[in-house]
Amino acid sequence: MENISGSGWILQENSFNPAALGKCEAIMCGGNGYMGLRAATEERYIGERRGLFVAGTFNRFLSDTEKDNEVSELPNAADFLEMEIKLDGQLFSLAQGTVKEYIRSLHFATGELKRQMHWVSPAGKEYRLDFHRVVSLGDLHTVAQKVCIQPLSGVAEITLSTGINAQMTNSGAQHFAEGPKRFYDRRYMQLVQTTTQSGIDFVLTTDVTLSREANTRIAMDRRRIFSVYDISLEPEEVLTIEKITTVHTSRDKKTEGLDTAALQAHALAHLKAQSALGYGEIARQSAEAWHQKVWGNIPVTLESTDPTDLLALRFAQYHLQIMAPAHDNRMNIGAKGLSGEGYKGHTFWDTEIFVLPYYIFTQPETALSLEEYRYLSLPGARKKAEGNGFSGAQFPWESAWLDDGEVTPLYGAADIVTGLPTPILTGLIEIHITCDVCYGVWQYYTATGDADFMARCGYELVFETANFWVSRLEPGPEGKLHINNVIGPDEYKDQIDDDAFTNHFARWNLWLAMAYRDALARENPALLEKLRPYVRYGAWEEKARDIYIPEPREDGIIPQNRTFLTLKEIDLTKYKNQTQVGSIYRDYNHEQIGEMQVIKQADVLLLILLKEEHFTPEVKRANWDYYEPRTLHDSSLSLSTHCILAADMGDEVLAYDLFKRACNIDMGPNMKSSDDGIHAGSIGGIWQCAVLGFGGLRLVGDKIRLAPALPKAWTRLQFYCWLKGQKIKINITHDTVQVENLTRTAPVEMEINGTTHVVADMLEIK
Ligand code: BGC
Repeated sequence: MENISGSGWILQENSFNPAALGKCEAIMCGGNGYMGLRAATEERYIGERRGLFVAGTFNRFLSDTEKDNEVSELPNAADFLEMEIKLDGQLFSLAQGTVKEYIRSLHFATGELKRQMHWVSPAGKEYRLDFHRVVSLGDLHTVAQKVCIQPLSGVAEITLSTGINAQMTNSGAQHFAEGPKRFYDRRYMQLVQTTTQSGIDFVLTTDVTLSREANTRIAMDRRRIFSVYDISLEPEEVLTIEKITTVHTSRDKKTEGLDTAALQAHALAHLKAQSALGYGEIARQSAEAWHQKVWGNIPVTLESTDPTDLLALRFAQYHLQIMAPAHDNRMNIGAKGLSGEGYKGHTFWDTEIFVLPYYIFTQPETALSLEEYRYLSLPGARKKAEGNGFSGAQFPWESAWLDDGEVTPLYGAADIVTGLPTPILTGLIEIHITCDVCYGVWQYYTATGDADFMARCGYELVFETANFWVSRLEPGPEGKLHINNVIGPDEYKDQIDDDAFTNHFARWNLWLAMAYRDALARENPALLEKLRPYVRYGAWEEKARDIYIPEPREDGIIPQNRTFLTLKEIDLTKYKNQTQVGSIYRDYNHEQIGEMQVIKQADVLLLILLKEEHFTPEVKRANWDYYEPRTLHDSSLSLSTHCILAADMGDEVLAYDLFKRACNIDMGPNMKSSDDGIHAGSIGGIWQCAVLGFGGLRLVGDKIRLAPALPKAWTRLQFYCWLKGQKIKINITHDTVQVENLTRTAPVEMEINGTTHVVADMLEIK
């Protein structure tokens, strides 16, 4: 990982590297699900991308010329991290002078970010500087900073300038109108900014305290409020600066309905209370929350010959915790979490397929909230279906706020042939998202058995998604029903017919609706009656029977779509060995790529993984051999799927190699891969590789299955999961599997290595 390394609980940057600013900001991002704060440094640098994102606060930037391609996005809120520090008249910057020692470290156990350095100014004066920061997991609105400065070359004159800076933009798009800003008691600074279209007030309030008396000046500027402190220090005296900041918005559920002035007053009172605690106590409370929610509750532990494997799992659990807006079911997880501008904070199928399993198994209450988000989006999904002339619910490919509807932009990167922006059709025709949402409901219910959710939301979601497929299928001349003009998971193929993934899942969506309907008829006719407007008899059966299914050919290969296997083949070696994803676009445009057998990410193979009960091991192998060599893994969602499949096929060496590659997507040596934010789905995938892949925990049909296949490098894997309301501890070595029901209020049935067991207390299988 070059200058980024780590072990145990710590991910660290070993030397200051201006080229890695964006990457470190993302992979060392702080957060708590309410907000995400990129790990920008206090002092500013060219190439930085400082960012503060508050979950669910979407806004649409409107300009006359850009109207068509502007969609709702998470606005980059005001920056309060910044500190301009002058040491004996010299602006502190690691781009100047000499950096003698330097370490920046993210501590997963506590969520704290630290930077420690020994800096020699261009004038030859030496200083020690320590920066500490925590986005509190104990109090979702609070961020605490502590900075210690020690002069090592005699007395020092220090000038600190810091406050709240609302001059931030999203790559130039200004999402905020400037609101009131003011000082209280010449001490507390407060700034209000309001999103231009969605009208959300953001109230940022901050307090700076110093360990030594200072000559203080308060100041305001356009979109900025700040204070300037002049301090004289004795030789070796340590100056400690504490800055406590709170973030509130008018979208916060707890304070909903307050007008701006009342929210300001609430924010000020909250800030005062937090500031009275001080950095140490805020950090302690945050560490305690990390222990309670994650590390002392649901940790994955493993013994591996390579300690970075465990680090990668901690990295994954850390980010999965900070990306999830578990506090509010009107919000979901963005493809980059809350760690950057990438994908505009939008939610994709990444949630259901790549990150939801983590929450379902470890934090079912968060999974429930994510599922409820889909339920609350049903009116919009119905509107989308209706607008397109269909019935039921058609979910947006990209979603933001509940009633935003489809928010996929219409244009993307430059087309190297035409010189124009490449049109993006995913929002119009990547319709498998609708069955992915249904798959999410099924996963959640199968693992948790949460009948209450099903009654309130789940059945309606499954029935209405099935109804969409009923209307979307088109009759072909041979009497079969087809799904034409779509994009499958492989986005390198546009406007294709009978995509294997989509067709298989659409049929399954219809099957599931029938199965749930019939079960309700037996077990809860009153509920079925209530759901009557969404229930179909005959139509679901007929459509499921007549839908055209791309079945495996004689050689076992499932045609990815109607034309894929007839497309020309090119030598992909160069792109398979790429260091930067998407390098094929340097040689071909989207249309040309569409005419070749080259695949962006797991597609047919993902279908086989998710619906393994429909395919034989021979079919699995034949498709692996055919499709993997044609797959460029140009989406971060691809490697984990391949890793789990390789583990299933018994190829543990390959599976382990793919696991390593998946871990490297964000933690690896590519210094540019994460500039726009971490890859949420890929991070969910790291956890999936360990627990679902090597650990072999899977939902198959309506069963819970455990079939571990540890790689050689691992001698023990232990994890916790919630199954049917019981907390289960699973401990796996190469020789034994121990499964312990810790809750013990009900036995859990699961298939372990091919045999059905009922786990009432402790079970050990050799
Ligand atoms: C992938 C999609 C994914 C999106 C967001 C795209 O590059 O092809 O499958 O949903 O990124 O992560």
